[in-house]
Amino acid sequence: MKNKFDISFARSLDEKDPLSKYREEFYIPQHNNVDAIYFTGNSLGAQPKNYDYYLNQALADWKLLGVEGHFGGKSSWFDYHKNLTKDVSELVGAKETEVVTMNALSVNLHLLLTSFYQPTKKKYKILCEPNLFPSDLYILRSQVELKGFSADEAIVFLPTNDDGVCLEDDIWNTIEANSDALAMIFIGGVNYYTGQVFDIKKITTIGHRYDIIVGFDLAHAVGNIYLDLHNWNVDFAAWCSYKYLNSGPGNVSSVFIHQNQINKKPFRLAGWWGHDSKNRFALQDKFEPINTAEGWQLSNAPVFGMSIYRSSIKIFNEIGMKNLIAKRIKLITYLDDAIESFNALSKINLKIITPGKPEKRGSQLSILINRDGEKVYKNLKDCGVYVDWREPDVMRIAPVPLYNSFEDIARFYHILFKCI
Ligand SMILES: Cc1ncc(COP(=O)(O)O)c(C=O)c1O
Repeated sequence: MKNKFDISFARSLDEKDPLSKYREEFYIPQHNNVDAIYFTGNSLGAQPKNYDYYLNQALADWKLLGVEGHFGGKSSWFDYHKNLTKDVSELVGAKETEVVTMNALSVNLHLLLTSFYQPTKKKYKILCEPNLFPSDLYILRSQVELKGFSADEAIVFLPTNDDGVCLEDDIWNTIEANSDALAMIFIGGVNYYTGQVFDIKKITTIGHRYDIIVGFDLAHAVGNIYLDLHNWNVDFAAWCSYKYLNSGPGNVSSVFIHQNQINKKPFRLAGWWGHDSKNRFALQDKFEPINTAEGWQLSNAPVFGMSIYRSSIKIFNEIGMKNLIAKRIKLITYLDDAIESFNALSKINLKIITPGKPEKRGSQLSILINRDGEKVYKNLKDCGVYVDWREPDVMRIAPVPLYNSFEDIARFYHILFKCI
């Protein structure tokens, strides 16, 4: 019998995979004139070959119409963000009125916190996971300080085990223990460091039981895990489009605001693009926000970036998250087995800290390497393997179902023996 990690065996798995043909729709970065092993789609997705379809349209409209492109051309720029609404809402399980695409992620989180972090003297704390993305922590700290509280006191962290993973019971107990003082729970739906997938539905339900606003940074979740934000009653969320959604470096972010929250007409920072679009150009004194998530927009749409997002998101609803997730589970199981086999044969222990069975994980496995980790990372890079290294001792590996193959994982397995 063939070894499970023989390249020929991996290729036979790819042949049976109904999604393997989609790899052809992406440019895979090259190493020595062959496809590199690109396992960093959790950081920056690969470039889709159709990236310029809408971009070329927008460029042609600009060239031919100049400023008239706002109202003419193939897709008028006046409402350009609307071209993304249907695909984005389907991907996260939202109503179309609950999503809008605008700005970059950190900016959007500030806008959402401005509306939804409304502390009182008694209820002013924010609960988050301890190893949340640094930008998120800076956002939380500065928002707390803006409202006149001490960040050191107002920000409460969930406890973790030694690997930085939050245990389910600890999450529920911490919410309950702090419920009187919590104004908000704010979690990265999939933690960027450990790859832990949080139970968004349950956290939201428990938070609401204690009258706590619940919001999520879904940068590592959208296009990766199943989401049903409206039915789960999530209050707000935001994500970027350049990781699993492949829209290109630093590209625009989308936000979700639950209809129940929109109806309450909370305070928001105002800009002309959030104003009632019928008289947006009338430039009147009083701000009248659009009565949907679009009412949180500030600036006119960055059309070129959005045009790439428009192209790159199409594929998700074409394939369906259910099918992508089915492949993702197979890839992650195969990678998990590869690491186990490597550990057994090499007598080195690469410890997977991402919790849960493959079905409960996303595309990312975080691996603890407690000796010479950075050197291993550099060796892998020299061999054409894209993974990433997070201080002090974690390597993140993310085979994504859209364009990674079983062969990528088998090649990675053999290279590991050379690099460690
Ligand atoms: C979880 C998470 N939150 C926030 C950000 C910041 O995103 P941006 O630079 O687009 O604001 C990132 C960037 O990688 C991230 O991974």
